[in-house]
Amino acid sequence: SSTRILIKGGTVVNAHHQQLADVYVEDGIIVAVQPNIKVGDEVTVLDATGKFVMPGGIDPHTHLAMEFMGTETIDDFFSGQAAALAGGTTMHIDFVIPVNGNLVAGFEAYENKSRESCMDYGFHMAITKWDEGVSRDMEILVKEKGINSFKFFLAYKGSLMVTDDLLLEGLKRCKSIGALAMVHAENGDAVFEGQKRMIELGITGPEGHALSRPPVLEGEATARAIRLARFVNTPLYVVHVMSVDAMDEIAKARKSGQKVIGEPVVSGLILDDHWLWDPDFTIASKYVMSPPIRPVGHGKALQDALSTGILQLVGTDHCTFNSTQKALGLDDFRKIPNGVNGLEERMHLIWDTMVGSGQISATDYVRITSTECARIFNIYPRKGAILAGSDADIIILNPNSSYEISSKSHHSRSDTNVYEGRRGKGKVEVTIAGGRIVWENEELKVVPGSGKYIEMPPFSYLFDGIEKSDANYLSSLRAPVKRARTEAT
Ligand code: URP
Ligand code: ZN
Ligand code: ZN
Ligand code: ZN
Repeated sequence: SSTRILIKGGTVVNAHHQQLADVYVEDGIIVAVQPNIKVGDEVTVLDATGKFVMPGGIDPHTHLAMEFMGTETIDDFFSGQAAALAGGTTMHIDFVIPVNGNLVAGFEAYENKSRESCMDYGFHMAITKWDEGVSRDMEILVKEKGINSFKFFLAYKGSLMVTDDLLLEGLKRCKSIGALAMVHAENGDAVFEGQKRMIELGITGPEGHALSRPPVLEGEATARAIRLARFVNTPLYVVHVMSVDAMDEIAKARKSGQKVIGEPVVSGLILDDHWLWDPDFTIASKYVMSPPIRPVGHGKALQDALSTGILQLVGTDHCTFNSTQKALGLDDFRKIPNGVNGLEERMHLIWDTMVGSGQISATDYVRITSTECARIFNIYPRKGAILAGSDADIIILNPNSSYEISSKSHHSRSDTNVYEGRRGKGKVEVTIAGGRIVWENEELKVVPGSGKYIEMPPFSYLFDGIEKSDANYLSSLRAPVKRARTEAT
């Protein structure tokens, strides 16, 4: 039956080890990983000779069916997940937006949006205001609903932005319930000022987007969030790290031993901002996202930081709008819905750009596209590994096969693609999700409703040692005071 699969003769890659082995799957679970597995003939056999057999990608950062900036993303859970599976991603974590500030109502709305999922998924929760109800709901979501991360927007003044006092409350609350605090790090007040400046100068096109929110504002907010997290003594996850300015702050904090995670996204690693100056609005506007795609140089520096471990994992921030939606900002860049695609392209582009170029190994690739995400969100080794007992989310990648990206052939509903025309090598030929072959021979065979909601438990490894360091700090406060000046003479 199709629930039994043997993958023969491939190079099986995990985050710390690779080996030539077969992988045997039964009823959605990996049963064995070893050379020369023998099975009966009711088993579907896939030949992976000369190919890499790796954990399916986990995208820590997507926005499907999200209402945002006066419209709704063109990809919902159906089209977004189809795109993901065709590109070798077998799990994604999407951001729930509260309903009128109500977290549980937001969660229930996203339960409905995702009911027919064809791949596994989890949720982060956005925090956009603060009161007793929010604080109570955070605990309910952690204890009963499988959410272990909360995102605070330091940008989008007037809608999603939170002020420092709210961020502090949120950090304390996250710490007490073992949840990971995430930040969108741009200084929203300064962005607002920068936007006003551009409009006054008559710069209303997409280039105004980049000019109004330069890297220094991302560096400032990243530094501020990191310092407040250190003050509270709780781990911090910085989403969509787009600039050297932000990355430098993360590097400095990590060097001092602080638990800070940095997530660059594919667009920030690979693209640069020259597109925003394209005279064709349809082209320029598709590159508008926040924080903005940066000038040449930032992307390569972020790639280097990923390869040296300063940054830990790669997301997409997949948040797609078609060209008619982007045209809402035809006369004013502030009204262009923010977001780019990437869910289908991430696994391919990171392989080609970083493994194909020799910057990182295949094991590093697995770590930054899958394993580290599973560890951070506390679902490893169920996810993020090819081990006996892990979920059967597996890709087979042919390093010699090439592709060309185009909106004409992609699975997103968007009529544009920010990687239009890009060619690369190293193609995901087979995707297995939950033990089902869902992508093979360029064909999708998805089953709506077969995807599972993955509950993510609190107190990940990032919380190890926090209690102890708090206790040490408290006892240092109670230590006898030195009276060096009075007693010296
Ligand atoms: O431009 C972006 N990033 N859109 C999605 C919302 C967010 O800030 O992640
Ligand atoms: Zn964001
Ligand atoms: Zn360029
Ligand atoms: Zn996002």
